[in-house]
Amino acid sequence: MPRKSTLSKGLAVAFAVLAVSAIGGMVSMMIVFKIQTSNLTMTERPTEPTTTLAPPPVMRLPRSLIPERYEILVHPHFYSRITLFFNGSSTVYFRCHQPTKYIFLHSFELSVSPLLVKDHDENGQLKVTSYQHHDDESDFLEIELEENLKTDGNYSLSLYFEGEISEYLQAMYVSRYTETNFDSVNETIEERFLVATNLEPTSARRLFPCFDEPDMKAVFQLTVIHRVGTFALSNTLQQNEDWKYTKFFSTPKMSSYLLAFTISEFLAMDSPKSRVNIKVIALPDLEPLAMENWGLITYQEGALLYEEGVSSLLHKEVITTIIAHELAHQVRGKTILCISWNDTHTLKNA
Ligand SMILES: *[C@@H]1O[C@H](CO)[C@@H](O)[C@H](O)[C@H]1NC(C)=O
Ligand SMILES: *[C@@H]1O[C@H](CO)[C@@H](O)[C@H](O)[C@H]1NC(C)=O
Ligand SMILES: *[C@@H]1O[C@H](CO)[C@@H](O)[C@H](O)[C@H]1NC(C)=O
Ligand SMILES: *[C@@H]1O[C@H](CO)[C@@H](O)[C@H](O)[C@H]1NC(C)=O
Repeated sequence: MPRKSTLSKGLAVAFAVLAVSAIGGMVSMMIVFKIQTSNLTMTERPTEPTTTLAPPPVMRLPRSLIPERYEILVHPHFYSRITLFFNGSSTVYFRCHQPTKYIFLHSFELSVSPLLVKDHDENGQLKVTSYQHHDDESDFLEIELEENLKTDGNYSLSLYFEGEISEYLQAMYVSRYTETNFDSVNETIEERFLVATNLEPTSARRLFPCFDEPDMKAVFQLTVIHRVGTFALSNTLQQNEDWKYTKFFSTPKMSSYLLAFTISEFLAMDSPKSRVNIKVIALPDLEPLAMENWGLITYQEGALLYEEGVSSLLHKEVITTIIAHELAHQVRGKTILCISWNDTHTLKNA
């Protein structure tokens, strides 16, 4: 007993020293950061007369149309040989709050074609006169119709889209890892791939054209096409599974940035001790360390995997803190209405 307590005292002192030096480090980093940013703000202010600058683009979508439900089909062309191409189709059902001839939504680095706009009250089709991506930072896709949409009318917009899977952990991205196989004599190391998404704050528009603002909540119904031998996970449970596609149940009404899916060769681990069945996955790559997607919280593996007798106590604490943080975000993300990302940011750090 006495020996044990000496040992733990020793450990406690070591941890205290570690903690103090860590805090010291953070404080000095904060000071350096303050100094650097204060200089940045000073030098960033342009001194030219404002008349020479173009007016900044309007960055918020008009509120004349409010999305209610999306049906999305996504097909990442991602087999044992890696290609970064993906395509798909989507239909968004929306309601008109103010008469308008224009549909504005977000779309970034996607090529989008043919468009079909339907009037669900009169069961007819509306003629699209033109559509174009705005050539500025707004990421708007603007669709012009021949006639006005009517107040309280129910409409839908269907389109086909193509894009590229990111290699930089944004939107839908590819992640590489190695798998070690042993046979009787040799050890082989194989490179493997998986696809995951990370749509916060404004990357849903890189996956499919959508009303990509946090307060424009809607229901999402996702189908993912993937190859045999891989498994798809998303916000909700699977509705149907075929040899090559997985259809998921509709989500509750939520913000576009909370949509998520993964396609991998990983099998989920069940947690037998919990009241509900919780399946657990850990991704080799994710930036930030974890993301609170509704029903599919994703974790970078270092922020989730713990091995008794191998991982440190400090690591255990970090993992539990991250899990608690993401669970809190998930609950709050569902109940608090975020108006825009500038407001959300203050909320998130509150
Ligand atoms: C801030 O910027 C000015 C001008 O570029 C420079 O002279 C000064 O040394 C900088 N100060 C700090 C603290 O970096
Ligand atoms: C994607 O493109 C392939 C080949 O170009 C095509 O066969 C497939 O139907 C497309 N997928 C979707 C979801 O439209
Ligand atoms: C192990 O690797 C060696 C060298 O590459 C090869 O000659 C041998 O056939 C391998 N053995 C097995 C059982 O695969
Ligand atoms: C955030 O942006 C909205 C719309 O652009 C604006 O009305 C609001 O005042 C901004 N909020 C903050 C905290 O800057």
